[in-house]
Amino acid sequence: MVIHSTSPMVVVANRLPFVICKNSKTGELTRKYSAGGLVTAVAPVVVETGGLWVGWSGLHLEDGISAIPESSPDDKSPTAGLRSDQVIPVNLPRKQFDDYYNGCCNACFWPLFHSMPDKAVFEEDKWEAYVAVNEEFAKLTMDAVHKCYERQPDQVPLVWIHDYHLMYTANYIRNICNDEGLKVKMAFFLHIPFPSWDIVRLFPWASQLLQGILGCDSVGFHLEDYCINFIDCCHRILGCRVDRKKRLIEHNKRSVSVHPLPISIPYDRFVQMAEEAPEAIKNKNEQQLLLGVDRLDYTKGLVKRFKAFERLLELYPQHIEKVTLLQIAVPSRTDVKEYQELKEELDQIVGRINGRFTTPNWSPIRYIYGSVTHDQLAAFYRDASVALVTPLRDGMNLVAKEFVACQIKEPGVLVLSPFAGAGVTMQEALQVNPYEQNQFAKVIHRALTMPFDERELRMTQLRRREKIRDVNFWLREVLKSVDSLDEACDSKLLR
Ligand code: ADP
Ligand code: G6P
Repeated sequence: MVIHSTSPMVVVANRLPFVICKNSKTGELTRKYSAGGLVTAVAPVVVETGGLWVGWSGLHLEDGISAIPESSPDDKSPTAGLRSDQVIPVNLPRKQFDDYYNGCCNACFWPLFHSMPDKAVFEEDKWEAYVAVNEEFAKLTMDAVHKCYERQPDQVPLVWIHDYHLMYTANYIRNICNDEGLKVKMAFFLHIPFPSWDIVRLFPWASQLLQGILGCDSVGFHLEDYCINFIDCCHRILGCRVDRKKRLIEHNKRSVSVHPLPISIPYDRFVQMAEEAPEAIKNKNEQQLLLGVDRLDYTKGLVKRFKAFERLLELYPQHIEKVTLLQIAVPSRTDVKEYQELKEELDQIVGRINGRFTTPNWSPIRYIYGSVTHDQLAAFYRDASVALVTPLRDGMNLVAKEFVACQIKEPGVLVLSPFAGAGVTMQEALQVNPYEQNQFAKVIHRALTMPFDERELRMTQLRRREKIRDVNFWLREVLKSVDSLDEACDSKLLR
């Protein structure tokens, strides 16, 4: 990856790109990779540019961590090259962190922004914890800003704030910088969908939230549609003057620019992993593998996926003993009720379907509740016949892109939901609406029986696009949008 950034970069995200684990007997600290789209995309960028990363370490103030461990020599995750002196850990009291992360971010913003308001829980004390934690992040970000100025006094640092956990941080940073007479450029990127005005206004503190985001100079979303929604909200909820064509919003005598910046993956790294990974499937000629790789999250549509697979076996019994669904579901947000309930529901469905169809030589579903190594993941992506990427709603979805990058042998088929951001550009995938079970089963059947030439044609085109529009392309676009800030910083207001 060759990235030229004129500004020293400070990434501010809820999580560090790894979790620190403490051995309860020896007290030894080690790093564990944190799975998720944000980390996969942003970590290589920080490693490459020698930037700094402010984020939660997975531990709390009460755990009293003294140092950040270096990565182990056999670490192949995207965070492997991140040195401990590039990391500023955020350690907060357990209760406060819990209210902010589980109570506000995951029980309220996550479902709301995925347009599932019935699942969202609105509670004032959780919002207050969110505001307080965002202020704490801002203070620690200032440590990083000071470090940047010590290293490169002539360069204005870029503070790049990520995701729905930190929508209220920018104003604090702006105020401290004003007090200290320091200049920074501030960009925000949202890794999840930005919903329509009609959903956002359900949040009781929507205007504060929008003003929080507008503390930045530049705001990025995956899709044009999310940009439109954001601009619309600023206009209708805050009464801001907006220029929809130029995607500018006027706020507090500044103009904030809004950019569609679809995120992607380190494509070449996945190709290389696929080339090096050992065989994933034995007797491949007799067996076809359907693959699902997701965090265990209700937005990913796993219940509907399993039910569609069951329907497939009912409608097309020729697949019995020939096709296996391998679902790798990485545990996620296990302290939140919705996630605990989903885990139970999935256990039951898998048990029921396997109980119904298993024969002495075959089980229809292999279900791994856990994460797999990057080598194993690449091998599954490469050797699967079909990947099922069928979320009910998803900001982008990187699994779809990782799958096509790893398809270096016999071409497989990507089955993709149009409700994932990736569905907008990955047009050669087989599209499926995951809400309707029969259609879903028929699309899986079509994917499993697709002739070689059609598979090859679709996969070649998908791979060509993803190779060009990889994470480096995304980062260059982000930096371009930030470079244009030099003029925008000096209050280029709407005319
Ligand atoms: P989200 O950001 O909602 O988690 P994405 O599909 O955009 O969804 O990103 C998920 C990332 O996490 C991908 O890079 C994927 O490789 C990784 N990941 C997801 N599930 C697993 C798993 N079970 N084991 C290892 N990595 C996983
Ligand atoms: C999504 C979010 C990220 C988050 C990741 C994993 O990708 O956009 O911000 O880090 O899910 O979720 P977690 O709650 O474990 O950080």
